[in-house]
Amino acid sequence: MSVETTASTSETATPVRTAHHRHYLMCAPSHFTVNYSINPWMEPSKPTDTARAVEQWQKLHDLYVELGHEVELIEPLAGFPDMVYTANGGFLIDGRAYAPKFRFVERQGEAPAFADWFRAAGYDTVIPEEVNEGEGDFLLVGDVILAGTGFRSTGDSHREVGEVFGREVVSLTLVDPRFYHLDTAIAVLDPVQGIENGGPERANIAYLPGAFDDASRAILEERFPEAILVSDEDGSVFGLNSASDGYNVIISPRATGFEKQLRERGYNPIMIDLSELLLGGGGIKCCTLELRGRS
Ligand code: ARG
Repeated sequence: MSVETTASTSETATPVRTAHHRHYLMCAPSHFTVNYSINPWMEPSKPTDTARAVEQWQKLHDLYVELGHEVELIEPLAGFPDMVYTANGGFLIDGRAYAPKFRFVERQGEAPAFADWFRAAGYDTVIPEEVNEGEGDFLLVGDVILAGTGFRSTGDSHREVGEVFGREVVSLTLVDPRFYHLDTAIAVLDPVQGIENGGPERANIAYLPGAFDDASRAILEERFPEAILVSDEDGSVFGLNSASDGYNVIISPRATGFEKQLRERGYNPIMIDLSELLLGGGGIKCCTLELRGRS
């Protein structure tokens, strides 16, 4: 770690963070329930409460608006209880939308709805050949795409996403079935395009080391020497499934250790409880898709 010192003091200053405007796509959980299981969190025998899911989701939505972000909505489709997790609905950079191709048949009907929405909103929309679950498995950090595989998106989709956006893709392999999407194991703390890790301005991440195989962990250590390493305790309450604007980081109230780590680094953690949506195996980030327009 590099510590900057000034002539007058030897204290290590907490970095000053800047909130950046975000543009998000969300989907109200009006049809939310758990009536199938495609990840270890989903137990169809456990009761769910749709009204409560909507209430919790609304708080997240309203918080984004309060923070000055722009939130757009896609109409929820009956029969697709997982559509609330819009992060899986695509991956967008520079006004181009790479549509999803869901691994499980239960979610496949969502894909055309997302593609239609992107087209109608004016995004150059690319229909994929390879299985991929959008921003659930693709995270833009600076100029590099971190791409997850092991449970949902395939390695072939990593090649495809690289071709679609003409950017470097770093493949990472997930090994713990509880953390089946990359956004359950990595949080992008500085979601600003074009800033380099290691440069004067840094794009940093937080991650759960135990969610990755050894080779992927080595890549993360090398690329992000200053990353926040999150404990298993905080990881297993979906602490990493969070949304940051560069200053405000929306996290689960159960991730108390992560909250402290964020404060120490000058971020402003804000707690939003999505316990009902965790029954479907999703959290804050899962409910949030970043719409990156033409820059
Ligand atoms: N039930 C959904 C599924 O298994 C949850 C998706 C969570 N989304 C995410 N971006 N991690 O597909």
